[in-house]
Amino acid sequence: MIDFKDKQELSISEEFKKNGYLIFKSNNVESLEYLRQVIIDNICKICHLKKPRRNDYNELLNNFHKKIKLKDLNNIRLKIINALNKDKEYRKNYFLTSKKILYELVGNELSMQNRINLSIQLPKDKSSLLPLHSDIWSGDSPFEVVIWIPLVDCYNTKTMYLLPPKNYKKVEKNFKKYSGNSSEDFFKKIKKNVKWIKINFGEVLIFNQSLPHGNIVNNEKETRWSMNCRFKSVFSPYGDKKIGEFFEPITLRVASELAIKYKLPKIK
Ligand SMILES: [Fe+2]
Repeated sequence: MIDFKDKQELSISEEFKKNGYLIFKSNNVESLEYLRQVIIDNICKICHLKKPRRNDYNELLNNFHKKIKLKDLNNIRLKIINALNKDKEYRKNYFLTSKKILYELVGNELSMQNRINLSIQLPKDKSSLLPLHSDIWSGDSPFEVVIWIPLVDCYNTKTMYLLPPKNYKKVEKNFKKYSGNSSEDFFKKIKKNVKWIKINFGEVLIFNQSLPHGNIVNNEKETRWSMNCRFKSVFSPYGDKKIGEFFEPITLRVASELAIKYKLPKIK
């Protein structure tokens, strides 16, 4: 296959293909800070907490479980998600944290998910789990990638896991053996082969959502905060998540814009 990508593009493409994910330092720290700031402001407003100094943001997020009751968590999460998605600059800043890598790995004409998801995992909380799954198995297009942004340092059980491509190949070959069981049983069978994503605030994860992934109960002493949002090439095939409903073009090029509007002149 002909490939005119430059050396750097080829090397990160290879890494993404081999590992199923990439972690990179966001080249737009301002945007990342903006995302965190809006969350902090809304936590304080919704939970009636005193606004901390910038140096204490980490403390507030990591110790969030000490400041609220578990029964209020879902309500708080929904209120914060609504606030993020009402903020006109939020999605743009989310995109800007990862623009470079998206252009290199996905393309420069992108569709972005309309709503950004927020995950808050309190220690020992069993109610906010995302069992093992591949997004494709539930109808997503394999052309989508996920940009996953942690707001705190994530490690061990305070993070997500992903089954690397070489291990997935073995599962794929013998899929019947796994697929008949519950996702919990499935996870038990692949547990020792998954990669736990160690990532800090300031870094961003891009991963291949077709690979099995998920999380388990957070057994660390800190709360996990992370966001996720899907991106895909505008003109690539869509799955259940459609353009106009779930996705929206964000970087359409002028040639495409003109082509979409073009009408053949009438000859009669
Ligand atoms: Fe997923």
